[in-house]
Amino acid sequence: MSNKSHFVKSYVLRGSRISKAQKKAYCDYALDWILPFKKAKINWGGNCPYTSRFIVEIGFGMGEATRRLAMEHPAWNILAIEVYKPGIGKLLWWINQENLKNIRIIEHDAVEVVREMLAERSVDGFHIWFPDPWPKRKHQKRRLIKPGFIELLVRALKPGAYIHIVTDWEFYAEEIYNLLENTEGLRNRHKKWSPKPSYRPSTRFEERGLVTNRKIRDIIFELDKL
Ligand SMILES: C[S@@+](CC[C@H](N)C(=O)[O-])C[C@H]1O[C@@H](n2cnc3c(N)ncnc32)[C@H](O)[C@@H]1O
Repeated sequence: MSNKSHFVKSYVLRGSRISKAQKKAYCDYALDWILPFKKAKINWGGNCPYTSRFIVEIGFGMGEATRRLAMEHPAWNILAIEVYKPGIGKLLWWINQENLKNIRIIEHDAVEVVREMLAERSVDGFHIWFPDPWPKRKHQKRRLIKPGFIELLVRALKPGAYIHIVTDWEFYAEEIYNLLENTEGLRNRHKKWSPKPSYRPSTRFEERGLVTNRKIRDIIFELDKL
């Protein structure tokens, strides 16, 4: 599956409403911080002694968590992948506002980015926080977390590095947990659900989940140290 170029997209691009400030940030800063999608592996910070981790965040939404993570961990290089232009504009605005140097954005389908741009054994952690649950049966095929995608993530992980997924949809949490549990080479860092790690900031998706009394499930698996 990982070699196929065809995958059902996990998002639908509708005409999104972008604010003036987001549009301006996009125009002013896109060239500085957005890496173009290419069928070539990236080596960002690989030779840099100040970089302690290479983290890939998939589907950052409005970039609230990305911004906080980048501020609190200046030595982490954060590759942030999203297709939603208002969110990209917002994160570019934050990057400029907070003078952040450790974020690069790719505006493209994360499945293709992971497949084409991430070298084997190069990533210290994947963050996939509140992926769209696509709860209706007819939309389930759009869920991002599926076996072919996990295969791609695993190939990119360094030994001992992790995949951290969070969802507030119980059926999706069980599905993700079972998938990771049955993936060769992965090991759960905790018993089943993980406690919320201190590095993960809350976002509006978490707050919305809590308001509606849903349980927030953190799931963290790591690649065996070979
Ligand atoms: C429910 S939102 C969560 C946003 C953010 N992680 C948060 O917690 O606030 C899911 C995001 O994933 C993005 N997304 C879904 N599939 C994607 C893909 N294949 N590549 C890049 N982004 C994707 C959507 O555009 C959306 O912004």
